[in-house]
This record gives sequence, structure tokens and C-alpha cells, in this order.
Amino acid sequence: MSLYVLRLGHRPHRDERVTTHLMLAARAFGASGAYYSGVRDPSMEDSIRKVCEDWGGRFTLEYVSDWRRTVKAWKERGKVIHLTMYGLPLTDVVPLIRAEPAPKLIVVGGAKVPGEVFKLADWNVSVTSQPHSEVSALAVFLHELHEGKELSLAHEGARLRIVPQAKGKRVENLRPKDPNRVFPHSKLKPHSSS
Ligand SMILES: C[S@@+](CC[C@H](N)C(=O)[O-])C[C@H]1O[C@@H](n2cnc3c(N)ncnc32)[C@H](O)[C@@H]1O
Repeated sequence: MSLYVLRLGHRPHRDERVTTHLMLAARAFGASGAYYSGVRDPSMEDSIRKVCEDWGGRFTLEYVSDWRRTVKAWKERGKVIHLTMYGLPLTDVVPLIRAEPAPKLIVVGGAKVPGEVFKLADWNVSVTSQPHSEVSALAVFLHELHEGKELSLAHEGARLRIVPQAKGKRVENLRPKDPNRVFPHSKLKPHSSS
């Protein structure tokens, strides 16, 4: 399933942790990749790139300066889902979204979501009609969309693998760390300061 996330209005420093967590949740819960708008943040991109190098998968991350252009381009080839507490309840619409074969873009907001997003979206979806966070909304949405199958997703090419334990931590090193290695499937390149 081709599934991407667009995070609107990133502000470095203020949003670095929450956007990083959003990207990690997107990757872990089965999204193919993500875009973010707002202010470009090489440090956040680097943290996600390092996770992809260590833990595998094909997750991509791309900064977009013009979110409208990204959403409109997506509407030509797929469907756009906006997560908002004001939308239709998740349980009512998720079967329709799941049945839709087109690629999907899931839009989540930050501090202030422009009204235009509500009009551009094919579905405005609420994960409860209570305020919480883009991270929790995305995780629950993806979990429902995949019907829990994402919980056993394998991330190919990983350097590290956890061997689940009832108590304690066990991590297997599958290959040595190589600082020059760019994960083969990732668009995430090491940030150059030049
Ligand atoms: C911290 S909220 C801020 C929302 C902001 N006050 C606004 O203008 O909509 C950031 C994002 O979390 C997501 N979110 C928060 N609560 C949600 C809910 N109950 N259902 C779906 N998404 C939610 C939305 O994507 C929202 O844009």
C-alpha cells in the first residue's frame, strides 16, 4: 500500500522532538515515507536517516517548501486524508479508506492548520473528537488502516535487530556500523553543511 505522511508547518527547535517522533511512528507503523513543510531542519532529517540506517526499511523523508503543491500533485494520482479532531469518526470512514486502492497521503497539522487543508482533503478524519497530538492520531489511524498487520512488519536491510525478551534487552548486530553507508533504498542522504 503506497502511503505517505505530510507534516505541516514544522518549526525547528520547538517541534524537533514531536516531528521526529511523528516520522518514527510513520515508519514503524508502515508508511512508505513522509514529507514535511515549514522550516527545513537538517538535524531532524539526520536523526531519521540514522534510524533508517540502523533499523532498516525503505522509509523516505523529503522537505517540501510548498505544501499546497504537494497536496494538489497527490490529488492527481491518489487520495488525501487529513487527520483532525473536527473530522468524521475514524471507525465510520476507515473501511472506505481501506477499500480505496489509490495511493494515500495522510496530512497532519502542527500549531495552526490552514482552512484550505479541510477543503483539499478527500477525507477529514477524527481519532476521537478530543484534542491530542499528531503522533497519537497518526499511530491510531495507521493501526486501524492496516488492521494491526503493521505490528509484525519486517524492515529489510536492518543493521540492528531486537530479540524480544520478557525482561532485559537483547540487540543483535547484523553487520558492523559504517558511517559512510547511505541506506540503499532511502532518499535520506547525510546532510552536508556546505
Ligand atoms: C496539537 S494538534 C493542533 C491542532 C490545531 N489547534 C489546529 O489548528 O487544528 C496538531 C495535529 O494533531 C492532530 N490531531 C490532534 N487531535 C486529533 C484528533 N482528535 N483526531 C485527529 N487528529 C488529531 C491533527 O493533525 C492536528 O493538526
